Amino acid sequence: MEAKATAYSNIALVKYWGKRDEELILPTNPSLSMTVDAIYTTTRVRFDEARTSDAFRLDGEPAGQDATRRVTEALDHVRALAGTRVRAVVESVNSGPTAAGLASSASGFAALATAAATALGLELDDTQLSILARRGSGSASRSIHGGFVQWHMGVAPNGHDSHGVQVADEKHWDVVMIAACVNAGAKDVSSRDGMRRTVDTSPFYRGWLDTVDRDLENVRRGILERDFELLGSAAESNALKMHATTLAAQPPFIYWLPASLEIMQTVRDLRGAGVPAYFTMDAGPHVVVLCQPDDAAVVDARLKELPGVTQTFVSHPGPRAHATRVGE
Ligand code: DP6
Repeated sequence: MEAKATAYSNIALVKYWGKRDEELILPTNPSLSMTVDAIYTTTRVRFDEARTSDAFRLDGEPAGQDATRRVTEALDHVRALAGTRVRAVVESVNSGPTAAGLASSASGFAALATAAATALGLELDDTQLSILARRGSGSASRSIHGGFVQWHMGVAPNGHDSHGVQVADEKHWDVVMIAACVNAGAKDVSSRDGMRRTVDTSPFYRGWLDTVDRDLENVRRGILERDFELLGSAAESNALKMHATTLAAQPPFIYWLPASLEIMQTVRDLRGAGVPAYFTMDAGPHVVVLCQPDDAAVVDARLKELPGVTQTFVSHPGPRAHATRVGE
């Protein structure tokens, strides 16, 4: 009843921003991401009949109450499928970039769902795994697959059709994503709270919903036709629109820091100088820069020169989540 799984994080090219069902984690819009090979989580889950509660250790330390509660809730979905109530010890280790404050809930909940299902001997297909991962954190539904992945929002009230589907595998096209980290304190508005506040209060949210399908179509076509400018320009515009919705929320909030804007300007300057590069940003101040392999060294060097950039992490399209049983 023990298994270990690794799942790779993903960076959305078309963002998931808003839920229509908070309990089931069903989105208001479809999204599309690239799984990234440099940011990942490895999780070991051991179910133990003798335990009366779950325990969660993160990066070698006992995790706090909120994190442990979210892990228990995610495990409850796996336990319900397996028809058991047995409790578990969960140990997760994030790769370096997550310690720097880069998305870890996608790889974390994808690894947890995959490890727990394997430990309990469930033989799930990718759709079922993606749905389980989604119940932990929406973006985790995309990290079950490698390469380029669309989260189909679905229409069913129970969410059975809301899961990730691979658009193209990791060998299809080598897009480089360079995460430029800036010096940030703790996030003051989590993605979960930020999207809720935006859906509830931002008059710009309507504009987000009205244009997201077109962004998705352009990003999809950019990937399938390996058209970097189409992909990059649609992804950059989509990220800016997501952030614009937060400016009009009540109370308003903004994830950018001065260093984030400096990176955005540098990307625009690179483009002006003939280097195709585009940016995207999640619910935080770090900026992820998209470029092609031949330009990666130049782009990375330019980003590292900026005083506000603390570290960069270079990713290529990453593989699917995978698990192995331990001790049998
Ligand atoms: C801005 O998946 O972290 O990164 O479902 O509430 O756990 P919950 O949210 P989460 O949100 C990610 C939002 C985003 C965009 C994206 O990854 O698509």
